[in-house]
Amino acid sequence: MNWNIPFNRPMLTGNEFRYILQALEAGHISGDGRFTKKCHELLEKELGVAKALLTTSCTHALEIAALLLDIVPGDEVIVPSFTFVSTANAFVLRGAKPVFCDIRADTLNLDESKLQGLITPRTKAIVAVHYAGVGCEMDSITGTARRHGIAVVEDNAHGLFGTYRGRYLGTFGCLATQSFHETKNFTCGEGGALLINDGQYIERAEIIREKGTNRNRFFRGQVDKYTWVDLGSSYLPSDVLAAFLFAQLENRSQIQALRENVWQRYCEGLKAWASGNSVTLPYVPYHCEQPWHMFYLLMPTLAAREALIRHLKECKILSVFHYLPLHLSDMGRRWGGKEGDCLVAEAVSDRVLRLPFYNELSAEDQERVISVVSEFQP
Ligand SMILES: Cc1ncc(COP(=O)(O)O)c(C=O)c1O
Repeated sequence: MNWNIPFNRPMLTGNEFRYILQALEAGHISGDGRFTKKCHELLEKELGVAKALLTTSCTHALEIAALLLDIVPGDEVIVPSFTFVSTANAFVLRGAKPVFCDIRADTLNLDESKLQGLITPRTKAIVAVHYAGVGCEMDSITGTARRHGIAVVEDNAHGLFGTYRGRYLGTFGCLATQSFHETKNFTCGEGGALLINDGQYIERAEIIREKGTNRNRFFRGQVDKYTWVDLGSSYLPSDVLAAFLFAQLENRSQIQALRENVWQRYCEGLKAWASGNSVTLPYVPYHCEQPWHMFYLLMPTLAAREALIRHLKECKILSVFHYLPLHLSDMGRRWGGKEGDCLVAEAVSDRVLRLPFYNELSAEDQERVISVVSEFQP
């Protein structure tokens, strides 16, 4: 279909091709070249994390996290039901049982008040997903985890540069993951990063990311040859992708300013319509700064959501739904998931509608989206 207004459109910030050329000219386009290191430095300095490692995706960063936490068959890992498959799958790959937690009705984040009831002697980790880049209740989640000696991993795919109580998302868990997929604020097409806040994981993370070898130690001159020392895979992206990504990260203020504008325009333009039609707009608690990742509508019913998607489609505007509850997926049911386990996730999943959201969405196109939405009566 030829969309007048697509859901997403990646933007070049200016230096992407110049940096790719520089990577080529430097004669190093495989992983861990100059631009990969620049991305690591930028993320470490900006966020204040002990170590950042670019990966081929957020999914792969989550897989590294599962390996680092020594997840073995029989372990349980608590994940929100309302999330992307990879949040759970990365741990299930190591043999863990996913334990699905319901979400809060306001932020659509993991409901911290439900955690205590899901923890068993086998619980090894809690994965907090900051939906739309709005922070989970990290004080409560990290407190519960600490009392039980459980690791916290932040799946921060949406939330780079968002904050919770003035502190960057991705700095609360022992490990955190980022996505640089095409739909994210900063992109290189496909990519991700592992953020390490607990220094004990750094050396092993480098090994796992380099196919289970101590190649990084070899390059640093710490060993005279490198060999197979642990489990691992090929998790490092080409420096061509890192060059593209560095241009985007370097221009983070410009990108975030554009996105903030888009978000605010939607919010202003749809406020009155939403309140008159039982539609809920995104909720951002006062102690969270969001990174302007997405704008969603919570429609009153599934039928209304489907009808609005169709209405927008007739005007060649692409809007999309989001996650299906994982506990009701084929895989989730294999782990015992059934209707009624996560009531909020089940209700919300049917009602979320995401509007076109990208850096260069023009005011004119956005006005068109707002006016097409506003003529719709659920
Ligand atoms: C919460 C969450 N985690 C992980 C991922 C996977 O990201 P990637 O495509 O970089 O593997 C996504 C994808 O959008 C996501 O929404």
